[in-house]
Amino acid sequence: MCGIVGYAGPRRQTPSVRPVEVVLAGLSRLEYRGYDSAGVAVLEDGHVRIDKRAGKLANLREALAGRESSDSQVAIGHTRWATHGAPTDANAHPHRGGRHGELALVHNGIIENFAPLRDELVADGFTFVSETDSEVAAHLVAREMERPEIGGDLTEAMRQVVARLEGAFTLLAIHEAAPDRVVAARRNSPLVVGLGDGENFLGSDVAAFIDSTKEALEVGQDQIVTVTAEDVSVIGFDGTPVTDSKRYTIEWDATAAQKGGYPSFMAKEIHEQAAAVADTLRGRIENGHLHLDEMKIDESVLRSIDKIVVVACGTAANAGSVVKYAIEHWCRIPVEVELAHEFRYRDPVVNEKTLVVAISQSGETMDTLMAVRHAQEQGAKVIAICNTRGSTIAREADAALYLHVGPEIAVASTKAYLGQIAACYLLGLYLAQVRGNLYPDEIQAIMGDLEELPGKVQEVLDASGQVEELAREMADATSVLFLGRHVGYPTAMEGALKLKEIAYIHAEGFAAGELKHGPIALVEPGQPVFVIVPSPRGRDSLHSKVVSNIQEIRARGARTLVIAEEGDTAVEPYADVVIRVPSTRTLFAPLLTVIPLQIFACELATAKGLDVDQPRNLAKSVTVE
Ligand code: F6R
Repeated sequence: MCGIVGYAGPRRQTPSVRPVEVVLAGLSRLEYRGYDSAGVAVLEDGHVRIDKRAGKLANLREALAGRESSDSQVAIGHTRWATHGAPTDANAHPHRGGRHGELALVHNGIIENFAPLRDELVADGFTFVSETDSEVAAHLVAREMERPEIGGDLTEAMRQVVARLEGAFTLLAIHEAAPDRVVAARRNSPLVVGLGDGENFLGSDVAAFIDSTKEALEVGQDQIVTVTAEDVSVIGFDGTPVTDSKRYTIEWDATAAQKGGYPSFMAKEIHEQAAAVADTLRGRIENGHLHLDEMKIDESVLRSIDKIVVVACGTAANAGSVVKYAIEHWCRIPVEVELAHEFRYRDPVVNEKTLVVAISQSGETMDTLMAVRHAQEQGAKVIAICNTRGSTIAREADAALYLHVGPEIAVASTKAYLGQIAACYLLGLYLAQVRGNLYPDEIQAIMGDLEELPGKVQEVLDASGQVEELAREMADATSVLFLGRHVGYPTAMEGALKLKEIAYIHAEGFAAGELKHGPIALVEPGQPVFVIVPSPRGRDSLHSKVVSNIQEIRARGARTLVIAEEGDTAVEPYADVVIRVPSTRTLFAPLLTVIPLQIFACELATAKGLDVDQPRNLAKSVTVE
């Protein structure tokens, strides 16, 4: 969703380094979040200049081409994902505020009480040129700046305004009367500070400034940050100075946010998955022992829980559905997996004996955040499984387990999915260790197999040519079905989700056993169906049931695309195509069997000429409910 960049620095006249270019570069690194218009604001000869365009950043760059360099020390920029009002030039950010347009403001989030505030401002003589809720905030801050008591203090003006806003927001403002600073405020919406040498940055995430500095500062809930070239100061919405903001060094470098020779970020991220799984496991298993230093929840609490509830959305929820099988098996504790947006509104039975596991790559998904808060209000402890350091969910949870898979730029999640599953395996084994459900030697044996997974992931990736060819051959498909049982079921769901979101093909994932209760009616001659087959070395009944399912659909003319363990010859008579994966424990197979499905979706969307990394209508980080 919306991307925000702010910059305060020295006066730079060289075109490649002037503040507006710094902000444009930041915006292009935030493009992956999804957007439909973009804009920047600077001060020029002491006056606010705003340029904004509907559509991609290239439109904005074109509009700015050949412009004289401004003398601005500050700049703010925004990529907008439309909520209130269509993606037009007028609705794009920044918005001008004030009777003479003396302020510029960008906003991420939704101001829920914008309507009465707008009426109040109109009655006070302010004019509105957009349909957005954000313009209200621009005029409100500008009006505060008019008041003599404020004394031209942009930070105090912002503070007065945020007290009146309801909803979620990150706001950044610059004003003609305060030409050396950018003032930002955040509630329920992401914001991070980049600490430079003689310059400072603001961004929705660290990608906004990663090529300028690796030093970052977390901004807490309900805080206001003022950045100038030399200084960063933080206060709470109540005006109290904040002195304990967490400073950290960003682990990844700018090359992590580049395609590195791959046709898309998604293709690159798929091929990074062996390293991703290794990175998630790294430092947590040593000499057969499990260390989870981040586990800040007391062991006595973990021993007392009688239920685990996983809350997540989309791909992260599919990861939760995969690990449910492992955690229940190892810990003998019931695990419910619930879409975060459904969880909160059904009055769930949650108490201090419930452990809530919130899975979120971005750590900013509003639905998941609200579920976390609801669970905590009921007395539950929350563990966050996140990729983005310092993100809201990670900070608000009682403990956070980071994936360490590096930035995921493509909207469709791939390497974070594998990282989420691997992190949850660690969590499950840790709980089994603490609660005494497994003997140490059993845990060691499982961890030994876990450590072999990066190598096996690499084997699947090395064999990607077969699936790529299949995808290109099937580029005209209009419907693809996915079947699986046990851990293969969420894998089928994930395969279907990937195809829907990036290739815009009708795709459904089913539990294979459910087939004859309805979905088999969809099968007609030529219908492609992926089937994820469990290992024949696991529970025999599971394997033979899925083989029967393949026979059922084949008998009705389906084209069967079977993902099976190497050496499983039982599937061969009924498979039109067999895609092989290395053998592993049944519970670990989802880390391997999903990869051909990711490759299939990515290659098929590429063959269709679609924008694989930024599919239509989707945003990377869904920061509104
Ligand atoms: C699908 C996808 C989404 C996200 C979902 C949750 O490829 O990426 O379904 O998984 O929006 O996002 P996070 O994990 O950031 O909470």
